[in-house]
Amino acid sequence: MDLRGKTILLTGASSGIGLALSRLLAQEKVKLALLARRENILRRLAVELKSSGSVILPLQCDVSKKEDIRKSYLEVKSQFGQVDIAILNSGFSHRAGVEHFEVDVARDIFDVNVFGMLYFIEELLPDFKCRKEGIIVGVSSLSDCRGFPRSGFYNASKAATTFLLESLRIELKKFNIKVITVKPGFVKTEMTERNQYHMPFLMPADKAAGIIIKGIKKEKRLIQFPLPMVLGTKLLKAMPDFMFEMIAGRIKK
Ligand SMILES: NC(=O)c1ccc[n+]([C@@H]2O[C@H](COP(=O)([O-])OP(=O)(O)OC[C@H]3O[C@@H](n4cnc5c(N)ncnc54)[C@H](OP(=O)(O)O)[C@@H]3O)[C@@H](O)[C@H]2O)c1
Repeated sequence: MDLRGKTILLTGASSGIGLALSRLLAQEKVKLALLARRENILRRLAVELKSSGSVILPLQCDVSKKEDIRKSYLEVKSQFGQVDIAILNSGFSHRAGVEHFEVDVARDIFDVNVFGMLYFIEELLPDFKCRKEGIIVGVSSLSDCRGFPRSGFYNASKAATTFLLESLRIELKKFNIKVITVKPGFVKTEMTERNQYHMPFLMPADKAAGIIIKGIKKEKRLIQFPLPMVLGTKLLKAMPDFMFEMIAGRIKK
């Protein structure tokens, strides 16, 4: 698929994978709506990308707020006419052990990682169904494979995301709407900067963004990387529970 001329809506554009995606997508001569909460970063980014030949629309949006999503989507439609591809990438993680078991943290994570995506899909679907076209790209994670200690809220949010996207992909086929699931391994971003444990095959955000864009152009149903991590998570998933618990139980940080 040629991205030139397409209208792309991207959430979580202010840092990490989203920021890298913004810079690479702008090179494709597209109409690009960049969403996140930190408006100052988005405005600076829009100035930076001005000479790319793409049309850039920075929009402040908190994806945990349904009203923000509705307002942003209407603004994108009024400026660009329609959305062809929505890349729903906003997300955050939080690691804490049972010593700090706070349901409010779980709610915050689900509000952004799961409901932030679902609210957007709710807005997009009527238009996509009517046009019988559209691509939804949802960013999940390879960490959806099992419940790791201290990361249960995040892992559960990503497992939910993966399952929701999969069921939507099957159901939306008859409307010619494509659903792509992105499952990165460790990527060097603000999110992983806080991690104090070893992150195998950690890759730069621009490399991850390049793989994601290549996958979108090929309209792959699943974009997962890097390969050693993909194979590793398959192994973890197939592993007997007692063995996983023994290995994961050794994770200290
Ligand atoms: N880095 C990794 O190793 C890794 C691995 C697998 C999956 N992922 C997934 O990749 C996606 C991007 O993560 P990243 O690593 O690039 O992290 P990041 O650098 O921390 O970026 C997260 C982005 O999400 C946005 N965001 C957070 N809360 C938001 C909210 N309430 N409303 C709107 N936007 C919000 C942030 O923008 P504002 O703060 O400006 O709102 C930021 O642009 C996430 O879904 C993450 O789960 C990351």
